[in-house]
Amino acid sequence: MSELIGPKSQEFIKILESLIRGRRSIRKYKNLPVPKELIDKIIEAGFWAPSGKNLQNWRFFVVTGAKREAYLEYSKKSWLHLKDSLKVKLKPSLYEFTERFFFTLGEAPVIIFCYSLNDPNEKHLTSIGSVYMAVQNMNLMAQALGLGTCPMGAPLEIKDDVNHFIGEENVKGLQLLCGLTIGWPDHQPPGPPRQIEGRVTYLSSLN
Ligand SMILES: Cc1cc2nc3c(=O)[nH]c(=O)nc-3n(C[C@H](O)[C@H](O)[C@H](O)COP(=O)(O)O)c2cc1C
Repeated sequence: MSELIGPKSQEFIKILESLIRGRRSIRKYKNLPVPKELIDKIIEAGFWAPSGKNLQNWRFFVVTGAKREAYLEYSKKSWLHLKDSLKVKLKPSLYEFTERFFFTLGEAPVIIFCYSLNDPNEKHLTSIGSVYMAVQNMNLMAQALGLGTCPMGAPLEIKDDVNHFIGEENVKGLQLLCGLTIGWPDHQPPGPPRQIEGRVTYLSSLN
């Protein structure tokens, strides 16, 4: 392959692959703070995501310290909305682990609530998609820094409460998309296997 269209280098690809494949949702963290400059670096990685019409419509609210402690009551409430469906889905040990995660957020010292400022003219959910792209950049930067993250849709179960918690004036016109816990990992969960069957269709044959 020519230099122009070929891969950057085997080393570059290996590092990228190990980041992408090695990232796990972390639900147990060490009791150690995350320095602000690392949080800033993670958020900055989010800013470099692509966004529909380049609107950069993500809005992030960083919750730490006493405010994070206060959020635990909300997290417990979101568990009430999910526990019955999880009880039938998860084996007992995983159910208990997940319950503990919701009650403590795995001791994560940082939660970032990720919101979208939706373009009123949009028809294709591009604003929402753009924010999730930013979140994945943040996941990967955290991973590169040795930190762990867990994106959480659970706050959506109680989105009015979360909006109130963040401050109605702060979130006016915004849509809550997820919480993102961040901290120093204290476990190494196995990667859930990825399904390939039926996920991809090539409409023409490629050689
Ligand atoms: C949009 C989104 C919402 C999620 N919500 C939750 C959640 O509320 N609680 C949780 O423990 N994990 C949550 N997860 C993490 C998934 O369970 C996890 O990504 C999946 O099991 C695959 O595991 P992995 O991230 O380690 O590869 C969420 C992930 C995404 C992308």
